[in-house]
Amino acid sequence: MTLHTDRRNFLKWLAASPLAAYAAACAGGGGTGRDPGMAAATPGAGAAAGGAAPALHSPPASRLHALATSAEEALDIADLEAVAAANIPPSHWGYLMTGVDDDATMAANRRAFDEVVIRARRLVDVSTLDTRVDLLGRSWPTPIVLAPAGSQRAYHTEGELAAARAARARNHLQVLSTVSSTGVEAVNEARGEPVWYQLYPTSNWDVTRTIIRRVEDAECPVLVLTVDLPVSSNRLTQERWRRVDERRCAGCHTEGGQAPPVKPMYQGTPYRPEDFRTPALTWEFVDRLKDTTEMKVVVKGLVTGEDAGLALAHGADAVWVSNHGGRAEPSGRGTLDVLPEIADAMAGRAPIILDSGVRRGADVFKALALGATAVAVGRPYLWGLGAFGQEGVERALEILRTELEITMQLSGTPTLASIGAGSVARR
Ligand SMILES: Cc1cc2nc3c(=O)[nH]c(=O)nc-3n(C[C@H](O)[C@H](O)[C@H](O)COP(=O)(O)O)c2cc1C
Repeated sequence: MTLHTDRRNFLKWLAASPLAAYAAACAGGGGTGRDPGMAAATPGAGAAAGGAAPALHSPPASRLHALATSAEEALDIADLEAVAAANIPPSHWGYLMTGVDDDATMAANRRAFDEVVIRARRLVDVSTLDTRVDLLGRSWPTPIVLAPAGSQRAYHTEGELAAARAARARNHLQVLSTVSSTGVEAVNEARGEPVWYQLYPTSNWDVTRTIIRRVEDAECPVLVLTVDLPVSSNRLTQERWRRVDERRCAGCHTEGGQAPPVKPMYQGTPYRPEDFRTPALTWEFVDRLKDTTEMKVVVKGLVTGEDAGLALAHGADAVWVSNHGGRAEPSGRGTLDVLPEIADAMAGRAPIILDSGVRRGADVFKALALGATAVAVGRPYLWGLGAFGQEGVERALEILRTELEITMQLSGTPTLASIGAGSVARR
């Protein structure tokens, strides 16, 4: 018996069997909706019963939604997120995914991108693309930046080192978090050059000064001061996931798995956990930083034009528009909505980096159009890391970069400079 006859016999059997009636009921909305494989089999079964060509060549929905088994198979950032969700332990997943309160600011970040649309121009020569950007004395081939994110060994055993190797392979700017699971020296080595260093302020200046000296010794050119968490924010999603996974995981977050865990960058400083709270922090801290170090200073976490102006007045070399990926204040305001007032206040005097909610190259395009000089991502590359380690981070960067390039070509904007206010509109 041939394969063909086999299939025909199977279809006849299927059409006559009670399964067909059940599948038809599911497809008609009468089923439980719990089994997409069953619903997807329905067209084939129904067509066979009616004598028309069976639709067996279309993959069932369950196949369409199958997890990518390699980094290359991931078609977009959401594909990497799905694999990461399957790989990462629940409490770590909660830490990665959480926003604040009901996660409304996180949702607002996405909504802001959805509400801006692209105005594509035609008949422009887009045969040569230029995505280079200059940032504080260094030229990069792409405006897409790896945002600082703590504790990356929670997502993959190689953590920040894998991210650094990916950033090196693809030549992206990487910013290392203060609360990284690997120290700056090893990350610089993996990156092949000094990264930018993100500094969380502390209420103990001795801790801060010691870290700054260490970062200077590591020859990092830029200090990114994050100012959006003077106190801990209300991360309910994180807490809910933590409750379903009570395993201790100090070994994931720190080198050597010390208990109690001390983040590598706090080792050798007089750091105590309460130093992390800085409710009394003011702009004087930026003045003090500028007096303490020759490194360039970027202020991260700004969401108003007034504060962007103040940052420049206090000597910042660039500003970073961010609400920490919806993890800081419950403002309910997306960063793309904030960007125009910041761009106005800056009036081109210094670079603007933006993050929070960027998931596609088209989002990068929209941010550039509204005034960003460069655009950073957090979760997208962390999902890549959790999914496939270094290869996953590389794939995340490649996806975003390719999407940006295609968007530029299909919108008649062959250079970053040609992307401007006229490239977008409000929906
Ligand atoms: C899991 C996680 C950890 C983060 N850790 C830090 C951090 O240590 N320092 C910091 O300045 N920002 C941190 N951020 C914020 C990111 O730098 C960035 O602002 C944010 O991820 C951008 O939003 P996105 O995740 O939607 O791309 C973290 C974000 C996430 C998701």
